[in-house]
Amino acid sequence: MELKNVILEKEDKIAVVTINRPKALNALNSDTLTELDYVIGEIENDDEVFAVILTGAGDKAFVAGADISEMKDKSVIEGRKFGILGNKVFRRLELLEKPVIAAVNGFALGGGCEISMACDIRIASNKAKFGQPETGLGITPGFGGTQRLARHVGEGMAKELIYTAKIIKADEALRIGLVNRVVEPEELMSAAKELAKTIANNAPIAVKLSKQAINRGMQCDIDTALSFESEAFGECFSTEDQKDAMSAFVEKRKMEGFKNR
Ligand code: CAA
Repeated sequence: MELKNVILEKEDKIAVVTINRPKALNALNSDTLTELDYVIGEIENDDEVFAVILTGAGDKAFVAGADISEMKDKSVIEGRKFGILGNKVFRRLELLEKPVIAAVNGFALGGGCEISMACDIRIASNKAKFGQPETGLGITPGFGGTQRLARHVGEGMAKELIYTAKIIKADEALRIGLVNRVVEPEELMSAAKELAKTIANNAPIAVKLSKQAINRGMQCDIDTALSFESEAFGECFSTEDQKDAMSAFVEKRKMEGFKNR
């Protein structure tokens, strides 16, 4: 697929995905969502990628939301179809078997806040701003905001943010637990890359299974959730990486290079 609105770059074991419509503050139109879906598939199938960073082009916006110009004249059926497309792509990102870090470099509004919440970890520049402004546009959040925001920050805070359409600064996003860390804008990509590298240096299968167990366990009761953990834990003992890492520990050697096997 020819990519016009999304850039995919690879450095060592890390894929950097940049949403690239800076003139529209990286707003997500259907074409951009379709390209993102394709890029997620490429990363899924790339055995050399162990961690992913998602960011926005330019210094102003991460993603300023779904594309309002495209949505303006949609019918009920078209609106629903657009919502389903966004939800499908973001869910695929959330379920990607590799950790995804959102490097939030500016406005993360509506669909932008929503895509960041489908990532595993959010690091924000101190210039970033978050919010779900949809009710001010006559719509509900449509790419997962009504569901993921409450799961991230709690029901009361999610309802306040969505009902008021209020936009919050990075330090407030940190305070309510929406982001993991806030850094200076010029440090954002290096902080995201350093984190991605640290993760990529651990056993990829163990990271993947941890992600699955956390994601699945967050949606159910503790007993079912712990059974997912036991499954994941057991599966690790079928890997060469577990044998190598534990042998290295016992033999007082430094573990060098996981094989992803
Ligand atoms: N859709 C389409 N175009 C957008 C956009 C969006 N979400 N956000 C910004 N743009 C465009 C603007 O129309 C403008 O284009 P032109 O230069 O052609 O006029 C360009 O990006 C720059 O934007 P501004 O001139 O508005 O920049 P600003 O600095 O004055 O304001 C802003 C920045 C506060 C982010 C403002 O652009 C804004 O409020 N954007 C909309 C944010 C929003 O409401 N997002 C939610 C969308 S709905 C949604 O996401 C639904 C869902 O859940 C799926």
